[in-house]
Amino acid sequence: MAKMYVNPGMKKGHINPELQGHFSEHLGRCIYGGLYVGENSDIPNTNGMRNDVVEALKEIQIPVLRWPGGCFADEYHWRDGIGPKEKRKKMINTHWGGVVEDNSFGTHEFMELCRQLGCKAYVNGNVGSGTVQEMSEWVEYMTFEGVSPMADLRKENGHEAPWEVAYFGVGNENWGCGGNMRPEYYGDLYRRYQTYVRNYNGDKPIYKICCGANADDYEWTERVLATTFDHGNGFMNGLSLHYYTVPFGNWADKGAATRFDEEAYYNTMAGTMKMDTLIRRHGAIMDKYDPDKKIGMIVDEWGTWYNVEEGTNPGFLYQQNTMRDAMVAGINLNIFNKHCDRVKMANIAQTVNVLQSVLLTEGDKMVKTPTWHVFNLYKHHQGNDLVESSIDSTVIGTEENKVLNLTESVSMDGDGKLHITVTNVALDQAETVNCILMDASVKSAKGMVLTDKMDAHNTFEAPNAVETKELTDIQWKDGQLTFTVPPCGVVYIEAEME
Ligand code: AHR
Repeated sequence: MAKMYVNPGMKKGHINPELQGHFSEHLGRCIYGGLYVGENSDIPNTNGMRNDVVEALKEIQIPVLRWPGGCFADEYHWRDGIGPKEKRKKMINTHWGGVVEDNSFGTHEFMELCRQLGCKAYVNGNVGSGTVQEMSEWVEYMTFEGVSPMADLRKENGHEAPWEVAYFGVGNENWGCGGNMRPEYYGDLYRRYQTYVRNYNGDKPIYKICCGANADDYEWTERVLATTFDHGNGFMNGLSLHYYTVPFGNWADKGAATRFDEEAYYNTMAGTMKMDTLIRRHGAIMDKYDPDKKIGMIVDEWGTWYNVEEGTNPGFLYQQNTMRDAMVAGINLNIFNKHCDRVKMANIAQTVNVLQSVLLTEGDKMVKTPTWHVFNLYKHHQGNDLVESSIDSTVIGTEENKVLNLTESVSMDGDGKLHITVTNVALDQAETVNCILMDASVKSAKGMVLTDKMDAHNTFEAPNAVETKELTDIQWKDGQLTFTVPPCGVVYIEAEME
């Protein structure tokens, strides 16, 4: 039996709903076919957005959506995607799959999608191949209310009122696809470009995100901050971090999404738990410059990356999604909660049909992946206070790939209810958890569980093969809570206290 301690009186920070954010790029079938099918499609849609997809994303309370990339962002010229659709430029998406990009999904369509989803907009600007003027005018086009050339153009294109851009990324992966820059060079560009990301809406200033590191490139964080960090408030609100979980770290052969052995499973679990170390170590560098934690760490790309499904375009990054991915999602969302004092947003890559998607589509069919089900369990943490908790874990796995069996996080909502999520990565052993509350006792509790074989997944033929069930193995006695987390399982519990 594992002991778990929860101290409801000790609040550790606010869990931004944006920790459960999403990312959508002009890549493969994420936008076209996944989110957007166009007004004339036979697939049921509202203003071109797939109704089934919008509904499924609303169900998990999608808080924020990042767009248009990714690497695509630093090749994207926003004027190509406005005005009458028949006049929009057609071009080859050279970065992803060499297919025709007809720009039918642009700024207006993205904002309409966010409206339908009821989520915040995170727009990523182009530093790699765009000008300062272009970036500045895009912000003016989207957010300026008064008389100006860009505001007038937006109105001519049918949108009178400005939109709200909650987050704006000043470039993406500028150490790589976004221009192969050195940190000092990018840092200087950041200083310049962000100056012209104007705040036209004083009440709701744009949260400006500087391009941070790839995985454990601590030097990038150090040198970018050293170059940029001598300005006042609002100069930089967030610094990004990208980390993908690739089995054995082998980018040349990442293995299949659905056919893998226990070594690959445990290696994936160990690999994804590195997220905790990355946040701590990049966070320690940020602490030197920003001890009050005013700058948010923005993990705006995370998730699993495998070989593409056989027979699909290698540039489309289409992969299936199994219980292994569900475990990755549960572990990372727990890690983000635990670091909510520094991590202010995280965006899984990517929403539909690309990498670790929450939804897959094929024609008019859609399936919710095991990862979607984890988001559906964890949504109850959104906007809550993180409370202090810990759990006794055991080292498990294979000779070569060892990992701790359990992760957890606990939050309290505005009504004083506790929300507990626990993952158990062990493949052969359930874990009974005895949860002790400090200076409090449990009055009632209920829970849900997601568990299956490590490679179980949903298909278009069997869309509900993997889904959550009520957690029956749960008791509360003498104020304590006892429950069982099955192997390869994610548990969510809502508990009321006396
Ligand atoms: O998510 C796929 C790609 O991964 C993104 O375009 C890029 O930012 C990252 O390298």
